[in-house]
Amino acid sequence: MAKVFVTRAIPEAGLNLLGAAGHEVIASTKDGVLTKDELISALKEHNPDAVLCLLTDKIDGDVLDAAPNAKIFANYAVGFDNIDLKVATERGVTITNTPGVLTDSVAEHTVALIFAITKRIAESDRFTRAGKYAGGAPMLLLGSDLKGKTLGILGGGRIGSRVLEIMGRGVGMRCVYYDIKRSEELEKATGAEFRASAEEVLREADAVSVHVPLLDSTRHLINAERLRMMKTTAYLINTSRGPIVDEAALVDALTSGVIRGAALDVYENEPALAHGLSALDNVVLTPHTASATEETRSAMSEIAAKNIIAFLNGETPPNPVIS
Ligand code: DGY
Repeated sequence: MAKVFVTRAIPEAGLNLLGAAGHEVIASTKDGVLTKDELISALKEHNPDAVLCLLTDKIDGDVLDAAPNAKIFANYAVGFDNIDLKVATERGVTITNTPGVLTDSVAEHTVALIFAITKRIAESDRFTRAGKYAGGAPMLLLGSDLKGKTLGILGGGRIGSRVLEIMGRGVGMRCVYYDIKRSEELEKATGAEFRASAEEVLREADAVSVHVPLLDSTRHLINAERLRMMKTTAYLINTSRGPIVDEAALVDALTSGVIRGAALDVYENEPALAHGLSALDNVVLTPHTASATEETRSAMSEIAAKNIIAFLNGETPPNPVIS
């Protein structure tokens, strides 16, 4: 029997799997993210053989050293920019993630955000609740149609492809995408056309949705200069990682009419928002909940558990990031 430390309450499906595999599960009882000190002291106290951690846990050398027996940290997320992979590699710690199962929910959330911002849904909701609706008016809260307009995707991975498929085939948008790797498979499945640079997509699209991982090369990919390349009528949607967008530059662009609107699920310094962002009417903001459906979160919990179970059985886990 091995001891598995879980850094925060997650859906029980995965915890049940760990228990059924004969492991002892110790879950943090704090209703919130453990601070670094709290995480380190919990790891020292329990000395686990495996750790199931979240995107909100910063896993660095100090944290890894606090759990010397834990040679696997299974991240409950597809992204893993919360983990110092270099240090984990040096310490011989296996890192796993939960790819695949959240593709549809994140893509659907992205689509919801595209509709919400272009149809001014959140703004209309606020307007109506505030008792401002005084009968239909021809110019009231006019939004933008999507059919026939151009959707630009930056990052043609699983989630970007699924968004292209829904918005291209389903809604009738013209689709273009940029990725460091051109994909004929994506083009066949979605009908999207490849563009040779992010800048081309930004210039051409009526709505730009970001789906790249956070790397040194993608930090502030969307900055003041690139925002100015976009049409003044265009929208920016980000469900990938906050630091890919220079959020202060985005607030300026939204305030001064450089672009028409933005819909964000992720923020540069989560959970803080850039100064002025929440006061704007031409934004839709969700709290990093793109994968937050009951089905997906439960599936993520199972996948994280299966990665740990396989590792503790001496097998290669199904979703290694580094092993
Ligand atoms: C992920 O899994 O990386 C998502 O951002 C979590 O919602």
